Amino acid sequence: MRYAIEAEGLVKHYGETKALDGVDLGVPPGRLLGVLGPNGAGKTTAVRILATLLTPDAGRATVLGYDVRRQAHQVRSLIGLTGQYAAVDEMLTGVENLVMLGRLLGLSRAESRSRATALLERFDLADAAGRAAKTYSGGMRRRLDLAASLVGRPQVLFLDEPTTGLDPRSRTELWSVVRGLMADGVTVLLTTQYLEEADQLADDIVVFDHGKVIASGTSDELKATTGAQVLEVRPLDPEHLALVAKVVTDVIDETPEVAGGTVTAAVHDPAVIPAVVRHLDDLGIVASELTLRKSTLDEVFLALTGHRAEQATDEEEVPV
Ligand SMILES: Nc1ncnc2c1ncn2[C@@H]1O[C@H](COP(=O)(O)OP(=O)(O)OP(=O)(O)O)[C@@H](O)[C@H]1O
Ligand SMILES: [Mg+2]
Repeated sequence: MRYAIEAEGLVKHYGETKALDGVDLGVPPGRLLGVLGPNGAGKTTAVRILATLLTPDAGRATVLGYDVRRQAHQVRSLIGLTGQYAAVDEMLTGVENLVMLGRLLGLSRAESRSRATALLERFDLADAAGRAAKTYSGGMRRRLDLAASLVGRPQVLFLDEPTTGLDPRSRTELWSVVRGLMADGVTVLLTTQYLEEADQLADDIVVFDHGKVIASGTSDELKATTGAQVLEVRPLDPEHLALVAKVVTDVIDETPEVAGGTVTAAVHDPAVIPAVVRHLDDLGIVASELTLRKSTLDEVFLALTGHRAEQATDEEEVPV
C-alpha cells in the first residue's frame, strides 16, 4: 500500500462557505504528515472527513485501503482521533475514562483495566489515575485525551491541534509521546498552528489555505520554495540601524524589515553579502552580526498565506 491515508479532490461546503475546495493528500504508512494552515483553512474539516465523522460533498478518501464513506466501520476500527477540543468526561477519573472506552471498544473488563493502567503509566498519569479529569491541568488533560485515542491500538492516528494552549514544557512532552508512537509504526496526520511543531515532528507538510493545499513537501523543501535565504545584519551601534537599512535597501533593491536592532531581508543571490560588507565598510559601520540563513518555516508560511502563524505562548500550566 502506497498510502495509509489518501484523499483525492475532497470538497465540503457549509452553506456558502467552501470549507474544502478539492484537497488531495497522501500519507505513506508509518509517516507523519503535518497539516498547517491559518484559522478556518479547513484542517478540522479534512480530519473529520478522514475520520468518518463527516461526509464530503465530492471526492474520495481511504484509510489503510478502506473507503471512508462505504467502509466507515472498518476505518473506525483502525483509527484513533484526538480532536481539537478535549473529549474526555470531566466527572470520571482518568482510569474510568479509559476503562469506559475499552469497554465501548469491546474489550473485556480485565483487558480494559490493564490497557488503561498501561496507558496511564506511559503518559505519566499513573499518580492522577484515580482523580476526576476536571482536576487535571491542561497538559494532563491533553495527555489523557491522547491516551483515550490509543485505547483501541490504532494504526492510524489523527491529531487535530493536539498541543494548542499547552505551555512549552507540556508541548515538548507530548511531542516525545508522538515520536514514541511513530517508532511503533503508527501513521499520523497532525494539524497544528505551531510551525515549530511541524518542523520537529513532520516527515512531510501540507499547507492549507481557503480549503486548498497551497504547498507541500518536507520542511526543507518548503523552506527552499520561497527561493530565498534570509540576510540579517545587526549594527554594533544601534544608532546605525537606519543606515544599515539603507545599505541593504540599495543592495537588494527591496525594503528590508527593521526590528529588534536587526535588519532582515529575503535575498535570492548570496553575492549580495560582499556588496553589503563593502558598503558598510565604506561608511565605517561595524556589524556585530551579519548572517545568511535558511528561511524559517514561519517565514515560508507568511510568504504563502500572508498570515503569521500563531506564536507559542509562554503561559504556565495551571497548577493542580
Ligand atoms: N459546522 C459548521 N458549520 C458552518 N461552517 C463551518 C462548520 N465547520 C466549519 N465551518 C467553516 O468551514 C471553514 C473551515 O473550518 P475548519 O474548522 O475546517 O478550519 P480549521 O483549519 O480547522 O481552523 P482552526 O485553525 O480555527 O481550527 C471555516 O470557514 C469555518 O467557519
Ligand atoms: Mg480546526
